[in-house]
Amino acid sequence: MKKISLALTSLALALSATTAIAACDPGERVVKFSHVTGGTTHPKVVAANSFAERVNKEMNGKLCVEVFPNSTLFGDSKELEALLLGDVQLLAPSLSKFGSYTDKYGVFDLPFIFKDMDHAIRFTKTKEGKALLTEMDDYAGFVGLGYWMSGMKYFSAKKPLLVPSDAKGMKFRVQTSDVAKQMIAAMGASPQAMAFSEVYGALQTGVVDGQENTWSNIYTQKFYEVQDSTTDTNHQLLAYLFMTSSEFLKSLSPEDRAQFTQIADEVTQEANLSVKAAEEENRQNIIKAGGKINTLTPAQRQEWVNTMKPVWQQFESYIGKDLIDAAAGA
Ligand code: LMR
Repeated sequence: MKKISLALTSLALALSATTAIAACDPGERVVKFSHVTGGTTHPKVVAANSFAERVNKEMNGKLCVEVFPNSTLFGDSKELEALLLGDVQLLAPSLSKFGSYTDKYGVFDLPFIFKDMDHAIRFTKTKEGKALLTEMDDYAGFVGLGYWMSGMKYFSAKKPLLVPSDAKGMKFRVQTSDVAKQMIAAMGASPQAMAFSEVYGALQTGVVDGQENTWSNIYTQKFYEVQDSTTDTNHQLLAYLFMTSSEFLKSLSPEDRAQFTQIADEVTQEANLSVKAAEEENRQNIIKAGGKINTLTPAQRQEWVNTMKPVWQQFESYIGKDLIDAAAGA
């Protein structure tokens, strides 16, 4: 990567902290990294930029990673297809967006399966969790380089939600996940799958009444501006598959591949260490910006658990009981 002057870099950052700023030298292989989140404090933004910075420095002259955040290159309905076509080489989609490729990732979506992110990280390090990284390699050529945690999810809506029945009759945006759809149905509400980039507009215009997401997404996408409040439900995990294609990996020399995957591994470990702090920072940012957060009593929380946990049963034969047990017991 060319050395960009500090002044130019600061100018670019000031203009848009969410624009790809790598300038690649002739002869360097350009590696496009597309993702859908934005802002400067989002865990995926931080991890993607850190990965690009390290590759561009440590593999200078060979590879040059360009990051395209905020759905500027591909939105989440197109990015997996773009990877298959070789139009992009790196992605970090939510694990909830692989329903067309595998049922097994539904395990990450089961409500209340992970107590917290530490529990989810423990699962990703088990043999079952590691095996899921390459689950889609044989038939789709997708290869997971690591799991990036984003946070636990919380419901926001146009009115306070303290118990699941408060959501009755409302419409909620969900990711393209069958588990999420059934979970919303269990609350007596209707799910509507929608691309991430469309959520703010849909909440603003009332196309949907609510949504579920992490503090980092609720803050950086400003969902709190167009919702009455967010409830500390902590009901589900949001994590990403930092991924590439086996075609791209195989096209690298063995030495370059080893260096590339080593950097990917180190950035993954580092990103997962800082994600809890990023989530707390963005929770505080929401409050500072005037967003309201509802906390739950233990009895109210138990109502959410009782309403949503039966969804596990509906997906047991698709996901596999052994996998569910491995995740729950990690
Ligand atoms: C969503 O669609 O809500 C999230 O998956 C977006 C993201 O990548 O964090």
